[in-house]
Amino acid sequence: MSAHRPVPPGYVFEPQEVQAVYRAIFERRDMHHFAGGQVPPGQLRLLLEAAHHAPSVGFMPPWRFLRVTDAVLRQHLHDAVEEERLVTAHALGERENEFMRLKVQGLLEAAEVLAVVLADGRDKHVFGRRTPPQMDLASAACAIQNLWLAAWAEGLGMGWVSLFGPASVSALLALPPGAEPIALLCLGPVDSFYHEPMLQQQRWARRAPLASLAYDNRWGQGREVFDSANDAARGDGSR
Ligand SMILES: Cc1cc2nc3c(=O)[nH]c(=O)nc-3n(C[C@H](O)[C@H](O)[C@H](O)COP(=O)(O)O)c2cc1C
Repeated sequence: MSAHRPVPPGYVFEPQEVQAVYRAIFERRDMHHFAGGQVPPGQLRLLLEAAHHAPSVGFMPPWRFLRVTDAVLRQHLHDAVEEERLVTAHALGERENEFMRLKVQGLLEAAEVLAVVLADGRDKHVFGRRTPPQMDLASAACAIQNLWLAAWAEGLGMGWVSLFGPASVSALLALPPGAEPIALLCLGPVDSFYHEPMLQQQRWARRAPLASLAYDNRWGQGREVFDSANDAARGDGSR
């Protein structure tokens, strides 16, 4: 793909480097089964640096990372997730039992738990987020995706857990007013990786075909890129 685009000398990734980027993107999975162990401190710092090099609206950046090393705190965070899991299950109605069979977090087994929090005082940042203000959340999601991809490339699993009551997690983490927790990341060695999204494996949901989500110019109109004869899109839905 990249071979056809004009790029300034010195900025070209070697083909195998390009492939490695796509490989990490297509193979990355949300993991909830962990094998304990540890993440060496140098590797953890590098992963956080990768997260910190994400784009952020107005170059804020909105993210804060809280590494949970206190076993009691970890247990309480786990309990907060379990509490919300039951509420979510109930809200799902007829899929309640099916949902309860899913493993939606690995807080007690993962080598590391990192809480990702939107910092307090974000309203003073109006560049790019005066409207829409959720661009701070979008920026932090970019940081989490960087961490996810880097962890995957390093052979570590990561799971994003967002099933929690924000008020209880904020209290547990002693967050200042205005700060908002958005993720409890479970990170660490795994015994094996999922080869397709766990929710797909468990027949909870399937990846929607990209062609049903992309339009030309206006909502619902055409999608020339998918109809062209040279369509190189990866369309095997299972990735
Ligand atoms: C913002 C966000 C929040 C998520 N929260 C949870 C969660 O609380 N529990 C869970 O099991 N998975 C959670 N996931 C993971 C998704 O279920 C997962 O990404 C999706 O099923 C696709 O699987 P894949 O990431 O392996 O491609 C979350 C993902 C995102 C992006």
